[in-house]
Amino acid sequence: MDINPVFKIFESLPRQGAGDDEHTKKAFSLIKEPQKRGGEILDVGCGTGVQTMALARLCPACRITATDIHQPFLDAVNEKIAAECFSDRIKTVCASMDNLPFNDESFDIIWAEGCASIIGIENAVRYWKKLQKQGGYIMISDIFWFTETPSDEAREFFAEFHPAMMTEDKGFEIVRNTGLKLVGSFRLPSQVWEESFYGKLREKFGGLEKEFAEDEGALMVIEGLKRQTGIFEKYPDEFGNTYLVMRKPL
Ligand SMILES: C[S@@+](CC[C@H](N)C(=O)[O-])C[C@H]1O[C@@H](n2cnc3c(N)ncnc32)[C@H](O)[C@@H]1O
Repeated sequence: MDINPVFKIFESLPRQGAGDDEHTKKAFSLIKEPQKRGGEILDVGCGTGVQTMALARLCPACRITATDIHQPFLDAVNEKIAAECFSDRIKTVCASMDNLPFNDESFDIIWAEGCASIIGIENAVRYWKKLQKQGGYIMISDIFWFTETPSDEAREFFAEFHPAMMTEDKGFEIVRNTGLKLVGSFRLPSQVWEESFYGKLREKFGGLEKEFAEDEGALMVIEGLKRQTGIFEKYPDEFGNTYLVMRKPL
């Protein structure tokens, strides 16, 4: 079976979405005790685990289950776990984020950097809420519109590549409608998006085009990513990554 070229392309990157340890820390700081004193964290769509390791360092008493659908990413996480001697408190599980093999109410904190929109923000929050303990937290960071009136070029691009992209206000409304309390939110500065993700992608485009020269599907993905980085360069104030930390009432 052919592997989706997105996975192959993203394997070559240090992280698979925009973000950095500083903003993982900032989002984690919105979570209050006692969850941070030794809770169970579910890291969904963990990729190669940059934020998994950051969370493990931020919360030395927490146990983390890091999940992703792509086993090669989890193999990379397992190498990091071994290198940082975290094997007693981080494990990896290969599973789809909308069909996770865990009991209801098993996690204190559910962490999803850059992935909730893959199954739809509302679906994700409603489903993960079931896995959350009472009083537990969900953190998602994802791509949102920062304006109701984007430029035609940006609007047309996302109508094609991510038609479900919503405004931040719509995201906040979804949180309210699911019965969770929005504890806090903030935006990832555009230069961090550039440094952590688009900049790294741009460096790879030439090599990726050569590597996947015979693979039409991969070339289309690369072309889409190129266009996306170009749109971001032109309109960094129109869309970006927002972190939302929400809590299930006790
Ligand atoms: C944008 S990346 C974010 C990765 C990581 N959290 C980060 O910020 O670097 C999205 C991740 O979701 C994973 N993914 C895609 N579809 C998935 C699914 N249905 N279930 C679980 N993981 C999935 C991808 O393999 C990828 O690692």
